[in-house]
Amino acid sequence: METLKMIQSRKAIREFNGQISDEQLQTILKAGNAGAVGMSQFENYRIIAIQKEDVLAQLNGIHGAPTVIIVAANAATTMEGVSAGIIVHNMELAAEDLGLGANYNMASLGSIPADVLPAGFKPLVVLTLGQTTETFTPRNLPDDRIKKEIIK
Ligand SMILES: Cc1cc2nc3c(=O)[nH]c(=O)nc-3n(C[C@H](O)[C@H](O)[C@H](O)COP(=O)(O)O)c2cc1C
Repeated sequence: METLKMIQSRKAIREFNGQISDEQLQTILKAGNAGAVGMSQFENYRIIAIQKEDVLAQLNGIHGAPTVIIVAANAATTMEGVSAGIIVHNMELAAEDLGLGANYNMASLGSIPADVLPAGFKPLVVLTLGQTTETFTPRNLPDDRIKKEIIK
């Protein structure tokens, strides 16, 4: 799908009806890998995909998603938070381009077991993923959903 159409069509999906394929997971991870990070410090970030049922069962607020992708960093300043958001947004758009359901998630952050994270890394944002029956077409959002100013 063309990028601008995809941006207008994206939406949070919280109901899932099946696991994503390994090929779909690889495509989504590749999109995350293409994300920008501050000062090109790519080594400060990790992307961790969870499909293991006993780990998923420990995560709060993931709406039964069969795949969860954690974006973690070795610090949690504004720089890492923004970069993690960019990485996760790339993955969300890629998932929706594949027709999958996806949503950003912070509700699960406090319930992520320490042993799935590399030493010294903190989870910053999560993407919940799965198959969906929803389709993605441009939404009619109110133009002032986010209030804007143009100063010139
Ligand atoms: C940083 C961030 C954190 C979010 N955390 C959650 C969450 O924990 N649980 C959830 O159901 N949705 C979460 N969302 C999804 C938002 O609720 C959703 O994007 C918002 O309602 C707008 O809807 P839309 O994405 O369909 O435009 C989060 C979104 C963002 C950007």
